[in-house]
Amino acid sequence: MNASVDAIEPLEPATIVVRGNGPLAGTVHVPGAKNSVLKLMATTILCDGAFELTNVPDIADVAIMGDLLAAIGVEMTRPAAGELVLVNTGRITPVAPYELVERIRASINVLGPLLTRCGEVRLSMPGGDDFGARPIDMHVAGLEAMGAEFKFSHGYLEARADRLHGADIAFEFPSVGATENLMTAAVLADGVTTIDNAAREPEITDLGEFLVAMGAKIDGIGTSTLVIEGVDQSDLHPVRHHTVPDRIQAATYLAACAVTGGELDVVGARADHMTMLLDRFANMGLEITTTDLGIHVSADQRLRSIDVATLPYPGIATDYKPLIITMLAVADGVGIVTENLYPGRFRYVEELQRLGADVRTSGHHAVVRGVPRLSGAPVKAHDIRAGAAMVVAGLAAEGVTTISGVHHIDRGYDDLVGRLQQVGADIERR
Ligand code: EPU
Repeated sequence: MNASVDAIEPLEPATIVVRGNGPLAGTVHVPGAKNSVLKLMATTILCDGAFELTNVPDIADVAIMGDLLAAIGVEMTRPAAGELVLVNTGRITPVAPYELVERIRASINVLGPLLTRCGEVRLSMPGGDDFGARPIDMHVAGLEAMGAEFKFSHGYLEARADRLHGADIAFEFPSVGATENLMTAAVLADGVTTIDNAAREPEITDLGEFLVAMGAKIDGIGTSTLVIEGVDQSDLHPVRHHTVPDRIQAATYLAACAVTGGELDVVGARADHMTMLLDRFANMGLEITTTDLGIHVSADQRLRSIDVATLPYPGIATDYKPLIITMLAVADGVGIVTENLYPGRFRYVEELQRLGADVRTSGHHAVVRGVPRLSGAPVKAHDIRAGAAMVVAGLAAEGVTTISGVHHIDRGYDDLVGRLQQVGADIERR
């Protein structure tokens, strides 16, 4: 896949048209995780040679990260569906220009690898998402503790360090991106870096395992204390790696099944990466079993309301929240949802209200009073996860729901429409 896929709204925007038509049934396959593969791709900056990634989702953000890496000196090809080859040519330019960085948040993940490999980096400051400002102060403070010097001017960040050195870093909050940047930077630093209160999402474990396979020395992967002993660049080598399955896409199919009263096998889903969410879904009345291939779910009764608060992993991820609110919108009773990560991440609620949902927000809480059925209407996807929730809401609605802003959904979902069609949904892309 060499063509650019733009996350900016295309000239002739697509829409997704859904007609609620009853229970979904069958098997749906979950691809690899966006929030892992983008980081694995950025990490190929660390050493020369040809990396192979499998279980790669076919999403726009992968193409955008490919464009960014091409500008830096890593060439990406897609030899087969679900596979990427990334060739680090050794001619690395430690500059990440605005036109590419502004398109995806994960472009910040080139900071750690570029700085530790090249001793310098010039990176356009990453923007926010529709759900609010997303600062990078923890990334910067951690790299400063490792000896980097930062300058900010004209929308660019410049960092320098002849060689980063090990440091003891304790996060106030387990930031996903800061953990990843410091972990990758520490791999080539001089000495030992300890990261306390590190994030421990499955995608970070995936990155840690990728780095160790490359020759990095990391203890504590999957825990909140990471200990990284720096190695020389000559100790690293390229690897072949299978991307961890996408727990947010998996949850999307569970939610779609839940609101339609269906029965699905979600193949590839890792129940052990979704334990708390699956417990909460069981509290809502879903029958969930772990199978050899993934998760089996059936919804043979109306959903029951629950209260939910988002938290860093292993808590309920903020990225699940639009799906949960959509499920609560058609559940029996009243549920309160508390957002603890992004205070502004409720914009899609207005769209759900257009479909007849009874949701009120106040500060970082939403109170959702379930109604028996939503009613189809035109709605807009404001970000990736909100967009997927609109599709799920459309499945629970009477009549036609037309979703615009589909380019957001394309950033993180690999053929959402086709996968839902295969399990009986009346859905098409126009
Ligand atoms: N934060 C700071 N300072 C920092 C870093 C983070 O204040 O230096 C704050 C952020 O502003 C935010 C919170 O901490 O309020 C969470 O940020 P975190 O660094 O943990 O998240 P991220 O790395 O920016 C990733 C995912 C998000 C997901 C969050 C939380 C990627 C590319 N993005 O973002 O995924 O919501 O972790 O789990 O991995 C998505 O996929 O749609 C998406 C938004």
